[in-house]
Amino acid sequence: MSEPKPPSEDRADTRIVHVGHDPRQHHGAVNPPVYHVSTVTFPTVADLKAKQGRRFDDVYYGRYGTPTTKALDAAVADLEGGRWCVSVGSGMAAVSCALMALLKSGDHLLMVDSVYWPTRSFCDTILRNMGVRTTYYDPLIGSGIRDMIEPQTRVIFMESPGSLTFEMQDVPAIAAAAHEAGAVAVLDNTWATPLLFRPFEHGVDLSIQAATKYIVGHSDAMLGTITMTDRALFEQVKATAGQIGHAVGADEAYLGLRGLRTLGVRLRQHEANGVAVARWLQSWSEVARVLHPALPDDPGHTLWRRDFTGASGLFGVLLKRGPSREAVAAMLDGMRLFRMGFSWGGYESLILDTTTAITRTASPWTHDGPVLRLHIGLEDPVDLIADLKAGFQRMLAAG
Ligand SMILES: Cc1ncc(COP(=O)(O)O)c(C=O)c1O
Repeated sequence: MSEPKPPSEDRADTRIVHVGHDPRQHHGAVNPPVYHVSTVTFPTVADLKAKQGRRFDDVYYGRYGTPTTKALDAAVADLEGGRWCVSVGSGMAAVSCALMALLKSGDHLLMVDSVYWPTRSFCDTILRNMGVRTTYYDPLIGSGIRDMIEPQTRVIFMESPGSLTFEMQDVPAIAAAAHEAGAVAVLDNTWATPLLFRPFEHGVDLSIQAATKYIVGHSDAMLGTITMTDRALFEQVKATAGQIGHAVGADEAYLGLRGLRTLGVRLRQHEANGVAVARWLQSWSEVARVLHPALPDDPGHTLWRRDFTGASGLFGVLLKRGPSREAVAAMLDGMRLFRMGFSWGGYESLILDTTTAITRTASPWTHDGPVLRLHIGLEDPVDLIADLKAGFQRMLAAG
């Protein structure tokens, strides 16, 4: 179980059904068994020693992986176009574990200004306390990132599009600049999932998924993955995950694998529903702009068309200046189908007022009206639009 198979020639929709599991090894069962494991026993001293040497690849101790977590790792690695994957207990664990594996005291990190806020907070507290310096950069910087690279820059971190402002990054240009400087290009690829953006074909060295979102897909488990093509990077990340003490629960790994099998069809529906709702929002008088890279007039559309094969269901809406916070609350409080809550990527639609959640230190965010974030689920968009329309009417009535 050492060298993973290179991704097969089959198309994604075919691979998604089969990757990571061979029913013949499990009495023909279609799904892999859920192994609840801490201790693994060895028949001989020689066997124990041999497995110790291969602990990143074989089943050796629960924390280093079980047949269930390894099935998940193999499936995500294949779909994302990588060779190795390390799964951990949440998307945030994947972010922090990857950064801790790559950075040491004295190093410098270039972090995108539109990044998921807890990632920013991790850099500004834990990494800073560990002696790692972070400089934030404009998400639209492209190859201009070269001017910000310092001799100590070890990692350039991207998230495209950002999950609050939906600005698109020129990932290949930034990754190329990272490589010229001997730095590692890291991407939080959660919005696109392994299916809609192929990170390694665009120069990324290490791709992170908050698998909690679309991979799990049912809002019922926390999971994160870190995927790469380079064996040395894999060993660095896997060793760090073991040292920090990450371990994925058996049931979570199983739920991740089960969700993964329907990711392709779910995403197509999320995209179609999302675009339908986004277009309707564009026609609504209270809306200043819809932040959705699949819309032709979005500033990130050209990059999205060049690099992505589709869109997921998460996007933002800028409202015109005017409605008070209370009026926005009147809209959100009365929603019939949209629920309010963190995270996204499940089958259900969600709405949040994200006006005060947008934090910028390197590049301006000038919109001065309210900002909403919508996750469009698998409901019929006609019903979702009716729910939003009634919400806007409540907002207008509340002033
Ligand atoms: C872009 C992005 N990355 C990472 C995470 C963290 O994932 P988790 O909630 O699984 O820790 C999130 C969660 O919302 C996210 O939106």
